[in-house]
Amino acid sequence: MDFDEALRTRRSVRHFSDEEVPREVVASLIEQASWAPSAGNRQPWRVAAMAPSAARPLIDRLEPRTWEILYPTLREVFEKNPALLGEESLSGRELTDATFAAVEREIFLRGAPWLLVVHFPRPKLLEWCKRLGSAVGLAPHRLLAQGSLRERAELALFLGGHVRRAIDNDFIVDVGSVAGFMYALSLAATARGVHSCIQYSWALVADEVKAALGLPAEDVILGAVALGWPDATESDLSRRAAPRRPVPVTWHD
Ligand SMILES: Cc1cc2nc3c(=O)[nH]c(=O)nc-3n(C[C@H](O)[C@H](O)[C@H](O)COP(=O)(O)O)c2cc1C
Repeated sequence: MDFDEALRTRRSVRHFSDEEVPREVVASLIEQASWAPSAGNRQPWRVAAMAPSAARPLIDRLEPRTWEILYPTLREVFEKNPALLGEESLSGRELTDATFAAVEREIFLRGAPWLLVVHFPRPKLLEWCKRLGSAVGLAPHRLLAQGSLRERAELALFLGGHVRRAIDNDFIVDVGSVAGFMYALSLAATARGVHSCIQYSWALVADEVKAALGLPAEDVILGAVALGWPDATESDLSRRAAPRRPVPVTWHD
C-alpha cells in the first residue's frame, strides 16, 4: 500500500474480529510510530499496551462511563450537525433517543481489540527550575538568597511566572507530539491491514485507567488507540468514509 492509499483508506474502526493481532505486529507498529516528530525530540509518549484479554474487562467496565460523560455533549453536536453521523444513517430520520442508542452501540468497541493507552509525564516544576537554573548558569535558589525581602519576593514571582509559562508551553507541545504519535500508529496499522480507532474518550476516565494499569498518578493520559482485525460480518458506522470538507486555506503567495 502506498502512502496516499494509507492516508485515504484509514478509517476509525470500532468493531473488530475475535482473532487477535499478534503481539510482534503491535510491537512493530509502536516502533514505527516512534518515528513521529516531537518537540525538542523529547519523544514524551509512553504506551501501556493491553492485549485483548486484559483490555476487554477494562473496556466493559469503563466504556459505559465514558458514554455517560460524553452523551450530553455528543447529543448537542449531532443535533447541530446531523451530517456528522453519516448522511445515509440519518436521511429521513429524526434524532431520537433510539438514534442515540444506535450510536452508542456503534461507538462501543466490539470483538478483541488491543487497547494501547498513550500517556506522557507531566512536566515537573522542580525539573524546570533546574533546567532554568542551568540555562542561566545559576542555581535559582542562590539568586533568591540575595537582596532585600522585597527584591527576593519580586524575583521569586518573576522566576515563578517564567517557569509556569514554560511548563504550560511544554504541556501543549507534548500534547501535540503525542497526538502525532497516535496518528502515526494508526497510519502504520492501516498499511499493515490492521484497523484502528484513536479514542480520546479514555482521558475522561484517566484516574480509573491509571489505577487499573498502575501508571504514575501524575501522568497525562491523552487517549488510547484500539487495534484489531476488522469484523467482516458487521456493518459499522465508522467503516463508511467520513466525508471531508475542503480545508479552509488562505494563500499568501
Ligand atoms: C483527537 C481524536 C479523538 C478521537 N476520539 C474518539 C473517541 O473518543 N471515540 C471514538 O470512537 N472515536 C474517536 N475519534 C475518531 C473520530 O471520530 C474519527 O476520526 C472521525 O469521525 C473521522 O472518521 P475517520 O477516522 O474514519 O476518517 C477521535 C479522533 C481523533 C483524531
